[in-house]
Amino acid sequence: MQDSGVAADAAAISAAATLLEAGRLVAFPTETVYGLGADAENPQAVAAIYAAKGRPQDHPVIVHVAPGADLDYWTSDVPEAARQLAAAFWPGPLTLILKRASHIPDAVSGGQDTVGVRCPSHPVAIALLRAFKGGKGGLAAPSANKFGNVSPTTAQHVRDEFGAEPLLAAVLDGGPSAVGIESTIVDLSRLATHGPVLLRPGHISAQQIADVIGQMPGLPDQSAPRASGTLESHYAPHTPVAMLAPAQLPATLARLEGMGRKVALIVYSATAGAGPRVCLPDEPVGYAYGLYAALRELDQSGADLILVEAPPHALLWLGVNDRLRRAAFGSSGIVERFLRA
Ligand code: TXA
Ligand code: MG
Repeated sequence: MQDSGVAADAAAISAAATLLEAGRLVAFPTETVYGLGADAENPQAVAAIYAAKGRPQDHPVIVHVAPGADLDYWTSDVPEAARQLAAAFWPGPLTLILKRASHIPDAVSGGQDTVGVRCPSHPVAIALLRAFKGGKGGLAAPSANKFGNVSPTTAQHVRDEFGAEPLLAAVLDGGPSAVGIESTIVDLSRLATHGPVLLRPGHISAQQIADVIGQMPGLPDQSAPRASGTLESHYAPHTPVAMLAPAQLPATLARLEGMGRKVALIVYSATAGAGPRVCLPDEPVGYAYGLYAALRELDQSGADLILVEAPPHALLWLGVNDRLRRAAFGSSGIVERFLRA
């Protein structure tokens, strides 16, 4: 793996573009999380992403494009709303699901008739996309983690996930991802019949989308396309995770610790407790920025349980609450089981 361990410079970016053009995998920073990139028009390269991640074949990946890329090259039947959203939020943390152009490999779209497209704003991602195929290519890139794990927000997280992975040719280091949770995904592929649909909440809110296109995105129903980020259990560390309302947290923590449990904490207010903890800001932007690093750090702490002080049920916290709910999904009932034991 080529990896200088320092911020990617022009030479590293150019070398990475060459590796990608040769069909290799390169991890690169984006403003949301790090991506595991491959040439979106090379089916073997895209297949290598699935192999490296251990990801099921029917889960589509997002195609990342350079600023000013031709949306009509990657997609078809582009509605005006898509052009408005791209103009308003690209480069940035918004993915648009649109009807796919016929030359998009099945592997990119998971066999569906749609494709997810996003232009990231991280300067290293933009430089890479401009260098790759002279800015005319697209990089298929899911988050650079093993399937189901917490997404990486630093180059070190990527090395922790894939350090020994021979399929990964290089990791570009662009520092910590500024947003910290994955892009907002809005499905515009069935606009006429279903309206815009919010497949994954993120930093760009449903209200911001509505302000641009004049229509509030709805929530997905059963017929909505599959998004792996919408699997109930996802973004999860290996240590069980449980969320508790702020009012319940101190007493439950005291009981668990009284029973000898090692409890790690993610809190946004001052709370007692003997174990390792991460205190995140009590506003959603700073909280999202620190969340995945906190989950990874506490996953290494040897705790029996990561207890999370539940953030407010407010719209601005939608993206954070969505990721926390999924991290905790596989451990539901764990606190009760520990208290009974
Ligand atoms: O912020 C992000 O979106 C990051 C960075 C690297 O750009 N990428 C990311 O990729 O989160 P991934 O693969 O971990 O999650 C992409 C989500 C998945 O839930 C996938 O199912 C969904 O996007 N998706 C991609 N193409 C789709 C499509 N055609 N229809 C429905 N969902 C799609
Ligand atoms: Mg992912």
